[in-house]
Amino acid sequence: MDIEQAQHECAITTPEMAEISPYPLNESTSNGVKQESDRLDFQHRFFDDVMNNELLPLHITNQLARTASPRVCDIATGTAIWLKELAKTLPASAELVGFDFDMSKFPMPEALPSNIRLSFGDAYEPFPEEFRNRFDVVHLRHFNLAMKKGQGVPLIRNLSSLLRPGGWLVWVEASAPLASAEPPSDGLFQTQKVYYKFLHSANLEADSMEQAGLVDCETRSYHCASVLFGPKASDWLAREHEEFYATLGQILKGILLKGGVDGMRTQQDLDGLLAKLQEDMSGTRKCHMPVIRNWGQKSL
Ligand SMILES: C[S@@+](CC[C@H](N)C(=O)[O-])C[C@H]1O[C@@H](n2cnc3c(N)ncnc32)[C@H](O)[C@@H]1O
Repeated sequence: MDIEQAQHECAITTPEMAEISPYPLNESTSNGVKQESDRLDFQHRFFDDVMNNELLPLHITNQLARTASPRVCDIATGTAIWLKELAKTLPASAELVGFDFDMSKFPMPEALPSNIRLSFGDAYEPFPEEFRNRFDVVHLRHFNLAMKKGQGVPLIRNLSSLLRPGGWLVWVEASAPLASAEPPSDGLFQTQKVYYKFLHSANLEADSMEQAGLVDCETRSYHCASVLFGPKASDWLAREHEEFYATLGQILKGILLKGGVDGMRTQQDLDGLLAKLQEDMSGTRKCHMPVIRNWGQKSL
């Protein structure tokens, strides 16, 4: 199926895959693919500011800058927004590849730089031979709701198969279950309870990369509230409220579509929770959420 057809049909995750995958966000928009694509692009700009606009850890950025034709792969790429931003920092000779098991959010090829190629790919399945041992960097972001219980290490091994020896795996997660609000928000607490019950696997364990055989593994945390102390402080609370309501609200809708969890089983439960969350995500309330970036290297 080509991208045009996939966008027309809304989502191309097959029913078998949707059943197997816990990921709840592809089917839960009221206005289809465009709404989800806009949310992902807004989310990218939000977290990019939280992470000091560093698309990659500095030493990896420097390594790519020393490589004549760097090769980078983005897993679960969504709208390919991260790849598109990275392409602006790399030479035209760079090779940029994005995989997702839902191609409906891919931009049309003519809207992409010619060195970005997007393909169907399930992060848990072996990748085609032509992509193995090829990339300087493999990047994965916002995947915790797609994690399958006990599959962290096999998943990292599968992603590492794409790396050349010496290449880096980089994994970013926003920790919604660890978020907090000031003053406290009952809407956020209730949402977190539902989210946490639904999570099939806790966030990537810090030592999963080592267990999967990567070396020089490191972790760095960023914090939403840090933007309040920088040049983008002025409209930050409004952006936080928009991001928290749009993303958490859509996650709740997706969880209900997958059958819900104790505490949120009916449309009425969902509507009540959404109303509470919307009311709380307003005014001068500050939201705090850690964002964790892990990376590790495939040994030489
Ligand atoms: C929250 S979005 C993040 C998109 C993008 N990485 C970003 O940061 O803007 C997660 C993406 O993961 C994709 N996804 C979920 N499970 C997947 C899997 N098993 N294999 C490939 N893609 C998957 C979804 O289709 C969705 O596009």
